[in-house]
Amino acid sequence: MKVRKAVIPVAGLGTRFLPASKAIPKEMLTIVDRPTIQYIVEEVVSSGIEVIIFVTSAGKSAIENHFDYNFELDTLLRQKNKPEIYEEVRHISNLIDIIAVRQKKPLGLGHAIWSARNVVGDEPFLVLLGDDLVLSDQLPCCKQMLNLYEEVQDSIVATQRVPQEETGQYGIVEGEQVREGGHKVLRMVEKPAPGTTDSDLAIIGRYLLQPDIFPLLQQTTPGHGGEIQLTDALLAMSKKRPLYAYEFEGTRYDAGDKLGYLKAIVAFAQRHPSLGKQFRKHLKEVCASL
Ligand code: G1P
Repeated sequence: MKVRKAVIPVAGLGTRFLPASKAIPKEMLTIVDRPTIQYIVEEVVSSGIEVIIFVTSAGKSAIENHFDYNFELDTLLRQKNKPEIYEEVRHISNLIDIIAVRQKKPLGLGHAIWSARNVVGDEPFLVLLGDDLVLSDQLPCCKQMLNLYEEVQDSIVATQRVPQEETGQYGIVEGEQVREGGHKVLRMVEKPAPGTTDSDLAIIGRYLLQPDIFPLLQQTTPGHGGEIQLTDALLAMSKKRPLYAYEFEGTRYDAGDKLGYLKAIVAFAQRHPSLGKQFRKHLKEVCASL
């Protein structure tokens, strides 16, 4: 079955980014000239997905407003004869159909995904975490996963290798390699302490899931951090049908972390169509002066 929908959980409080995220959703913080969440939405759109489902909470309406049509702004930009900005703003509101559902309680990522079950229905879907930006020289990360899905028709988690001392920041996958960059998942554990796993294969915020995940999420009891973990439901799924870990092509930036956010700005600014050249020149000067 074709993958048509993507779920993007944006209900989290963004405590890693306080105080910046106190009154502004962390997903609305700017990378060069657009909010983080717009890069995520653009990845989804360029991968051919038709509908996005935001899982939101109170205080996150700026995200929905960003992708909405703003009549006053539209009229003003037309009157002021600013065609380029007008087109850019219009483009954002025409990107894709967006549906928002509320996560009623902050019970964790697994619970956030479960909150989208009635809108997703009985079809495979993508999940993108709003913190994780992926830059790729070839295809968008989601598109790479969709291509693999066409072959395997089973759930996929995107992974990258991380240093052993960082395993406690990720869901870690243990598996057997079945193809280049592809592993069949045998075990998974959420945020294992360094030294407690031999694997360095970490899940990043991109998943392609079969809808069987929903009943498994419903049965999942609180795990790491007292939260309902998607990783735990995925482990249960891997016992029933194949689950693949895919080492995607590209670089992932954790834009929900202060240092990761700075790294993302430097990476995206260098590639920016109109600012990139000047920025690279500036960066060289900065590096020379260090
Ligand atoms: C979540 C997942 C974790 C994954 C990570 C990737 O954790 O639970 O398995 O490795 O995203 O960003 P979080 O960072 O939301 O605590």
